[in-house]
Amino acid sequence: MKIVHEKKREVNLPMNIVIENFCDLDHVNFVHKRCYKYCNIIRRRKNIMYLDVGVYPVPPLPFVQHYTMFHEFISPNKIVHFSKKRNSSYHIRSQVDFEEKNGKTYIHHKHELVIPFFLIPFKKLVLKLVDRWSDILWNEDSEIMKIRNEQIQKGFKDGSHCGRWVFKDGRPTFEFYERN
Ligand SMILES: [Fe+2]
Repeated sequence: MKIVHEKKREVNLPMNIVIENFCDLDHVNFVHKRCYKYCNIIRRRKNIMYLDVGVYPVPPLPFVQHYTMFHEFISPNKIVHFSKKRNSSYHIRSQVDFEEKNGKTYIHHKHELVIPFFLIPFKKLVLKLVDRWSDILWNEDSEIMKIRNEQIQKGFKDGSHCGRWVFKDGRPTFEFYERN
């Protein structure tokens, strides 16, 4: 059975910062340790990535689901990803649409999941857990998107090509190799 999880969010940051954060998946292993056991980028070419990810769907429970994921940025304001769980014949399809208005970015995130028949009576609970998982990620991303924006204001170039994610005082921080 197909179920749909939808979430609308807004953030007081320019759209390019938000999109960069969605496309710079190098941060996942540093920032989203609660929700991801690992995130390995197998292949990256232009606007397309192919990844192996281990997801903790119900943090802090140590239960992991393994996915392969296809992630594509479609210029100027859309991301689609397809994730296939190990030993499953279904794909989870996700789409993220971005819109910038008056300096704010509006994000519409949609996940289409296929659940097995025995989970149908627990459909609402499944959607609640997806929602909780997505909120944890969003809170963590909101923090680092602010850091990205502040660094750009200070004249740094952002992106995975010019620095790396490190832990400083227990917090994930983007450390830059050089200044413009
Ligand atoms: Fe993130």
